[in-house]
Amino acid sequence: MPGLNIAIDLGTSSVTAFVQGKGIIFSESTAICYDAYDDEIICVGNSAGEMFEKTPESLILKKPIVDGIISDFTSTVKILAYFIDKLCKNSVFRPSVIISAPSGVTSLERKAIVEAACSAGAGKVYVTDEPVISALGAGLTIDNPHGVMVLDLGAGSADIAVITMGTVAYCNSLRAGGDKMDEAIVQYVRKNKDVDIGLATAKKIKHTIGCAQHRSEELEMFCVGKDYITGMPKNFEISSNEIYEAFKDIIEEIFRGIVYVLEQVPPELYSDICSEGILLTGGLARLPGLDKALSEKLTIKVTRVADPEHCAAKGAGYMLKNMKKLEDHGYNFRSKETIE
Ligand SMILES: Nc1ncnc2c1ncn2[C@@H]1O[C@H](COP(=O)(O)OP(=O)(O)O)[C@@H](O)[C@H]1O
Ligand SMILES: [Mg+2]
Repeated sequence: MPGLNIAIDLGTSSVTAFVQGKGIIFSESTAICYDAYDDEIICVGNSAGEMFEKTPESLILKKPIVDGIISDFTSTVKILAYFIDKLCKNSVFRPSVIISAPSGVTSLERKAIVEAACSAGAGKVYVTDEPVISALGAGLTIDNPHGVMVLDLGAGSADIAVITMGTVAYCNSLRAGGDKMDEAIVQYVRKNKDVDIGLATAKKIKHTIGCAQHRSEELEMFCVGKDYITGMPKNFEISSNEIYEAFKDIIEEIFRGIVYVLEQVPPELYSDICSEGILLTGGLARLPGLDKALSEKLTIKVTRVADPEHCAAKGAGYMLKNMKKLEDHGYNFRSKETIE
């Protein structure tokens, strides 16, 4: 494959680009900002993401992927085209591009993603399944009849997949990702402290003191919000144990989602999973105690991979290098020619 080859992970919260021979070159917010009067694009990526919940009436901010599903297709395509154009600008050859699309993407949307990438300057475009490339990014060999379970915990969804022979054999997608935890913190603070906070503050709390199990040493954080009764500023204190309470139901939902998939898996694949354990990928895998909490509930080893938020982009990068090998082992790439 001569020329520049690119892999793009199109996630709910971020778009990550991997360039063959260079590695990950950027990770930017999956956000776009338009002028409210003429729909002209004002900015794309991090500069748009920073405006979340802060835009004046003259601007419209879109985060077009919600809960792991494309809710605003036009904006998604514009974001993708913007980044591919940025990457291809100085390239002599039209690059091959592998795109990891959100799990809920329909075949019609796959086709439109391929077309958008081609018109933005890509040569050959392939759309892949995120669980497969996350498993590759975690360093697993998936081109053999050995079952692997990957739990990808992103901002919008928790995607559970059993992979064998390079293909997803069983899967389940839950609306139980990092965004739902941010919402749970907003609700908790409103109910228990009578304070309104925004999602960005909730996210900061999650990253600073969040946990999926009681921490060995309880942490506390001081924040400011808007008193929901008086409308005045109000300082409040929140602890890691309180965040654990706020997250309990979501963690239980993820646990039940995994059990649901395990129930469908035939015994031979099941024993592969039991011996290899379950791999946690995606940014939310960083939540302290999540691997341990799930491992204790399932009585199966659960391991957080290194650099979990970049697993999909790295796996797509691996695919770029090994396309022939993966095809020989039966992996079915979906390109412009094969998407009807
Ligand atoms: N240290 C952390 N603790 C808790 N959550 C985290 C941490 N780091 C990242 N996250 C969460 O991971 C999610 C993003 O994961 P990512 O895999 O990048 O998402 P996506 O693929 O959906 O764009 C966000 O909800 C973010 O808040
Ligand atoms: Mg992701």
